[in-house]
Formats: sequence, C-alpha cells, structure tokens
Amino acid sequence: MNAIQHSRWVIVTAPTDRGTDPRDQVLGALSTLRDRHPDTVFVTAVLGGSGTSVTTALDEAAASAATEVVVVSAQTVLDRKIDAWFRRVIGHWLREHSGERIPDVRIANPLSDTANYADLLDAAICGPTTAARTTTAPLTSPSWDEVPGFARHVMVCRGPRCSARGGPETAQALDEALEARGLGDDDVLVTQTGCLFPCSQAPVVAVYPDNTWYAGLHTERVERFVDEHLVEGRPVTEWHGARR
Ligand code: FES
Repeated sequence: MNAIQHSRWVIVTAPTDRGTDPRDQVLGALSTLRDRHPDTVFVTAVLGGSGTSVTTALDEAAASAATEVVVVSAQTVLDRKIDAWFRRVIGHWLREHSGERIPDVRIANPLSDTANYADLLDAAICGPTTAARTTTAPLTSPSWDEVPGFARHVMVCRGPRCSARGGPETAQALDEALEARGLGDDDVLVTQTGCLFPCSQAPVVAVYPDNTWYAGLHTERVERFVDEHLVEGRPVTEWHGARR
C-alpha cells in the first residue's frame, strides 16, 4: 500500500450524529481532503461496531512508520461519553505500546456543527491539537469485573433501518424515562445494537430474559413501556412484533 511512504496519518472516527448513515458524508469529505493534503494518509475507524477499530488503525499507522497521527472524532454534536471513550481508547493504545517506537499521537479539537464536513475536518486537523496522554482512565475497573445483576436487558436496535426510523429518539427517550424513575444499569441494562433483523418493524426493541420483542416502539410509547413492562413486569402485548 502506498500509505507506507507517508509519515502523517489522520484517523477519522465515524460519527453517530450525521443522519441515517454518515459513512457517505465522511467518505466524501475524506476524498476532498486527500486532494487537499496529498501527503497525508486518511483512514476511517470506529469506536464500536463493525469496521476498523481506532486501535487497529493506530496499529496500521505505527506499522507504516508514520511519525504523526492526528485522531479526529467526526462527531459534530459533542457527546461527552463518546468523547471520554475516544480518549480512553487512545490512552489505552499508548499504554499498550509504551516503550515502542510509535508515532506522535495527537487529538484534534472537537468539530462544530456545520454543513461542510470537509472544511470542518480540515480545520480540525490543521488547527491546534493536543498530545494524547497515557494517563487516561484504564479500560478496566473492579466495578466491571462481573456481569451486573440487572433484572432486564433491553436491546434498542440502532441498525441502519431502525436508526432512520426513530431508533435514536427511542433510545434517548428510554434513557430519560429510566433516569426519571431512578432506574440505573443495575436495574435495567440498555444496549444499543446493530440490526436485529425484523427491520420492517422499526424501531425494534427486545427485552430479555423475557424474550419479548416490540415493533414500532416510538418515543410516544416509551413511557408506558417503561412503566408497565420494566417497572411492573407486565409486557405491553399489543405492541409485540410479529414472530415466526
Ligand atoms: S435495522 Fe433494526 S431490525 Fe434491522
């Protein structure tokens, strides 16, 4: 791969806030940036889900003898959780490679919201960056040693169809409804997942160990779903998704 000849890499992590499928926007912007900065290698990576992970992209940059890597989150609405994990993952990678010959890893400033993605990314990678640190919190903790004792595991589909048809709003409403009732991860664990398959029923939500699947669980249904199923233990049968 020609990338081996380049000493500067830019790793752009996929955003979660640019519509139904942000990959086209990111890839289009990177194409513009490759024209503007022909000496820089641009790659995309993901913090979670399918695709090249941030740590794999850092491995590849190091293996190609890059001298500098700028990691930029393509998120344009600041999400403190994602931002924290982004920094933790980079810190973890630095610790894992401490003492090795690795590139200078820099973190670009967060993007602001505007329509022109290429200009946003360009400003971020050409503007001031901060050195990535090894002193970030670790990726392990005694409180994460065991599976929590939650009563129910709620899976909210964030596959491409559900994400385009209300999944993000349902996930947000669910978080807020649980918080309002004082229910945390030890009571109800909420996980956003990839496609759960019955895409026509979007937004899809599944509850385990009850083995109960909901179809069309839009925001206006969330309060009742939480009260009746998650608090009182009575699934809302009329909203169940059709099953084979
Ligand atoms: S995208 Fe949600 S079930 Fe397929």
